[in-house]
Amino acid sequence: MCGRHRRIAARALALAVFVAAPTFAAGDVEYGAYLAQDCSSCHQKNTDSAGIPKITGLPADYFISALKAYKEGQRDHSTMQMIARSLDDEQVRALAAFYASE
Ligand code: HEC
Repeated sequence: MCGRHRRIAARALALAVFVAAPTFAAGDVEYGAYLAQDCSSCHQKNTDSAGIPKITGLPADYFISALKAYKEGQRDHSTMQMIARSLDDEQVRALAAFYASE
């Protein structure tokens, strides 16, 4: 392959990644609803209970940074740290999108 074609291919790939990024960043609400089944045993919808805050309606940005803080140990709560560490970035974004929409 000559150099010029390779550069065009690279540029097309960069463009594809750029165009696809916003859909990934938004988080999948339906996937979030599915994952949230594991949270609703503690987090009640629309109300705090027994020291467990409600998480419905939290802005996605806040939600993501809260889970990151548990994951990295800046927020100290062993249960939530364990839960946050079991979630990958896509799952955190999906949960954030779901709870923000609730
Ligand atoms: C075993 C009970 C339990 C389960 C299950 C649980 N949580 Fe929590 N969660 C808590 C408690 C307790 C806190 C408050 C911890 C603290 O004081 O920092 C909390 C805090 C949070 C916060 C921070 C809320 C705020 O206002 O800052 C978020 C976000 C959160 N949980 C998300 C989740 C998600 C998402 C799941 C499911 C994947 C989940 N939690 C499952 C008990 C639980």
